[in-house]
Amino acid sequence: MRQTASSVEPGREAESKTAPGPLLLLGAPGVGKGTQAKELVKLWGIPQISTGDLLRANVAQGTPLGKTAKEIIGRGELVPDEMVNEMVALRLLEPDTVRGYILDGFPRTLGQADWLDARLAAQPESLPVVAVMIRVNYNQLLRRITGRRNCPVCQRIYNIHVNPPQRDGICDLDGAALIQRADDTEEIFKERMRAYEAQTAPVVEHYRGKGRFAEVDGDRPIDVIAAGIVATVEGMRKA
Ligand code: AP5
Repeated sequence: MRQTASSVEPGREAESKTAPGPLLLLGAPGVGKGTQAKELVKLWGIPQISTGDLLRANVAQGTPLGKTAKEIIGRGELVPDEMVNEMVALRLLEPDTVRGYILDGFPRTLGQADWLDARLAAQPESLPVVAVMIRVNYNQLLRRITGRRNCPVCQRIYNIHVNPPQRDGICDLDGAALIQRADDTEEIFKERMRAYEAQTAPVVEHYRGKGRFAEVDGDRPIDVIAAGIVATVEGMRKA
């Protein structure tokens, strides 16, 4: 399935001329991976590939994958590696990934990381992966998750506490009624955090150990964080 919402908009000029290559955005639920990915799409002109968005699109369309994923996502657990890997493999075949791509929420287990590493190793023309870990404290994460609202049409992400729409519940860009994700409750957030600590924290250490890894403070204005990520990644690409 093609993810269109956060792909490069036709005719939009990327501001950076450096090929960013594959970038991983890592971090806990609600840390700002999707928000940052959308900023980087604008700056670099490469697509965001969010496994969460792809899975939700499958759920909405009632595909076999979506039917399996719906209950797992609803419990705050992780969808099996082979299903997610296959979905990512298909997305990476799209031609808009040639200059690079931003993986948002993938890999999330060591099995997914091994799969991605092997895939990239089999493509000697690909730049090596750069991993950026965003960090925010637990109370901020909970506030971000429970306050998040999404536009189902343009996918813009709001937050009722820190980044509200101009009119309550209405997207500023297209007037659509904003929605709250079914897994954005405190109870399911706690399960998602458990899955993160048990299965995804080791992935962060895996990429930290490989080098080309940066950790950024996610408790700053969105544009400041994005500028820091761009400077870090471009610095690593030139090194
Ligand atoms: P997924 O959709 O990937 O959820 P997640 O990782 O839990 O991340 P979120 O989307 O909740 O948060 P985010 O970090 O993108 O934050 P955002 O930018 O929106 O996955 C959902 C589920 O799908 C998983 O639980 C799992 O079941 C399944 N799944 C997905 N990928 C999988 C995989 N690879 N393997 C297996 N299963 C998988 O921001 C959050 C809020 O904070 C927003 O309101 C935003 O406005 C606000 N905010 C952002 N930045 C700032 C800032 N700098 N200052 C103030 N507020 C900010």
